[in-house]
Amino acid sequence: MAGLFVSFEGIDGSGKSTQARMLADHLRAAGHTVTLTREPGGSAGAEEIRRLVLEGAADRWSPETEILLFTAARRDHLEKTIRPALARGEVVICDRFADSTRVFQGLTRGDLRETVDRLHDLMIGTDPDLTLLIDLSPAEGLARATARQGSEMRFEDMGLAFQTRVREGFLALAAKAPQRFRVIDGARPPAEVATGVAA
Ligand code: ADP
Ligand code: TYD
Repeated sequence: MAGLFVSFEGIDGSGKSTQARMLADHLRAAGHTVTLTREPGGSAGAEEIRRLVLEGAADRWSPETEILLFTAARRDHLEKTIRPALARGEVVICDRFADSTRVFQGLTRGDLRETVDRLHDLMIGTDPDLTLLIDLSPAEGLARATARQGSEMRFEDMGLAFQTRVREGFLALAAKAPQRFRVIDGARPPAEVATGVAA
């Protein structure tokens, strides 16, 4: 039996990881077997690539090089983690997936969407069954992400105007694929947001 593939998307600090964890707990309590995973990462090889793309100076990689790195990480994650879990009939909950590349690399620093789409078709060829977009204002997201700090700040360091384009990009994707996306208001306490996620 094929499993169910769910992704969370949103700007940095929108609360995706928190909601992904809460949904996994909720489904496990209901008796489902859940693989909770994330991108970039989610397999040993992809976690190594994660360090390359999330740490260091904002201008460390061009958008084109990033497309290759994120897609390489995604291909490994798909082969080693996602496909095997779906084949076992599990629910896979992924914190970010291909929509992040469509927006972060495809739209925010020039129009590279066609390149992203062609590489996706060639190397990934699949999308989640359901995508939950946690929507939040960039100012609030950046405040939350900055409070969390750490070394993985390359994209946060690109600033508020950048995160505004990211938010608009996600909302545009959701409007184009309403059957796959659910947009959830992230500007509420975690438990209230989770009620929207579980609905
Ligand atoms: P993301 O994965 O989207 O970057 P996180 O789930 O890691 O977001 O949340 C970013 C920060 O904001 C964390 O410190 C988290 O505890 C906090 N946070 C998450 N959800 C909420 C919420 N609904 N309201 C207020 N703070 C939140
Ligand atoms: P993530 O760990 O989800 O960060 P956060 O919790 O701050 O939202 O993602 C790390 C960063 O990687 C995030 O800024 C978005 C970026 N990213 C891309 O640019 N392209 C991609 O394909 C993915 C998966 C992530």
